Amino acid sequence: MHWCESEGFQNFWAITRHADIIEVSTQPELFSNEADGIVVLSDEQVADQQNGRSVIGDMRTIISMDPPDHRLYRKIASGFFTPRGISRLDQIVHDSAKALLDSLGDEGECDFVDLIAQRHPLRVLATILGIDRDDEERLLVLTQQLLAGDDPDYRRKAGSRYEASQEVGMEFYAMFDRIIKDRRANPTQDLASMLAHAHLPTGEPLGEIETFGYYLIVFVAGHDTTRNALSGALEAFLAYPDQLQRLREHPDLAKDAVEEVVRWATPVNYMKRTVMADAAVAGQPVKEGDFLMLLYASGNRDETVFDNPHDFDIGRHPNRHLGFGWAEHYCLGAHLARASTQALIQQLAERVIEIEAAGPVVRTVSNLIVGAKHLPVRYKLRPAA
Ligand code: HEM
Repeated sequence: MHWCESEGFQNFWAITRHADIIEVSTQPELFSNEADGIVVLSDEQVADQQNGRSVIGDMRTIISMDPPDHRLYRKIASGFFTPRGISRLDQIVHDSAKALLDSLGDEGECDFVDLIAQRHPLRVLATILGIDRDDEERLLVLTQQLLAGDDPDYRRKAGSRYEASQEVGMEFYAMFDRIIKDRRANPTQDLASMLAHAHLPTGEPLGEIETFGYYLIVFVAGHDTTRNALSGALEAFLAYPDQLQRLREHPDLAKDAVEEVVRWATPVNYMKRTVMADAAVAGQPVKEGDFLMLLYASGNRDETVFDNPHDFDIGRHPNRHLGFGWAEHYCLGAHLARASTQALIQQLAERVIEIEAAGPVVRTVSNLIVGAKHLPVRYKLRPAA
């Protein structure tokens, strides 16, 4: 454990070891998501918060709740995200991966993030959230702006970061409101419909803002993470071409390969927790009000848990990675993320004849959701089987 102080940001304990991250994650009452959120804040964000100008407004979403509320709210959508629930989406996920690779033609150059990695989760999430195909482009821009964080290329041009996030939030709300009203009148099988009719286990209907919060958190938590897992997969295959060949020869390794992609890329670099009472982590005393940074990226390269942790090995087994978090807040969309990633890497393994870097990788400016912004590649593909 390291105590970190850096100018312009909240101070925090860096929790870097696999076992210590699990120790913290399994005590959600003591180490809270709710007290101060999940992100180490800059001084500007702390000032906004003190002036009642929190970046995500007053919205409570499951990722920023503690038990017992967290469990009640998580139940609302957990049925949709079970392996059985997600199997209904197999065709959509497969069709999206195939159509995207088809769109590349037989050979050429492209930015893999632009044409593939960001579009695949967009299509899948738009489908479950009931957003029309015609709105996908607008949704992509809104998503980039909403999640721009520190990246000036993505940020919306507005007065301040707070104003920009308010504007984007309003546009998202307008889109969401239309869909939720429609689902209330015409129920379907998608997640939008489930949320439109949601009740808490106590019997109360879910409030308007909370329904919107749920809708938004699924989108926010699901898009850039999956995009970065997909671009991470390709970066890994470029660095370890033998592993792409191995997947081609052993398609049964696809499930293990997905876990290794999530471990190797670790799209969610860290999550924050707030200490609720004086306690100890790995024997180190921590004080009430201290912040803990759970560094999933580091835990996923803990050499006491993973042999040769820096290597990308699609046959790695067991693979107890922390890429989807652990325990209480374990990723709600993990099965969907796995299905989406598997469909895409299977298409790559089946169809790539040659693929190589065609320029430098450019990374998104973020310390939270990490990955490539541009990944130029040159390729030759065979048509779909
Ligand atoms: C490879 C892609 C993904 C990665 C690496 C990832 C990673 C994570 C991680 C690390 C957490 C834990 C947060 C914490 O510790 O506080 C989390 C939570 C969450 N994820 Fe994912 N995620 C992915 C895809 C998705 C998708 C596709 C969805 C939805 C469609 C989703 C929805 C959520 C939600 C709603 C939570 C909050 C769960 C809770 O607080 O109980 N994620 N995710």
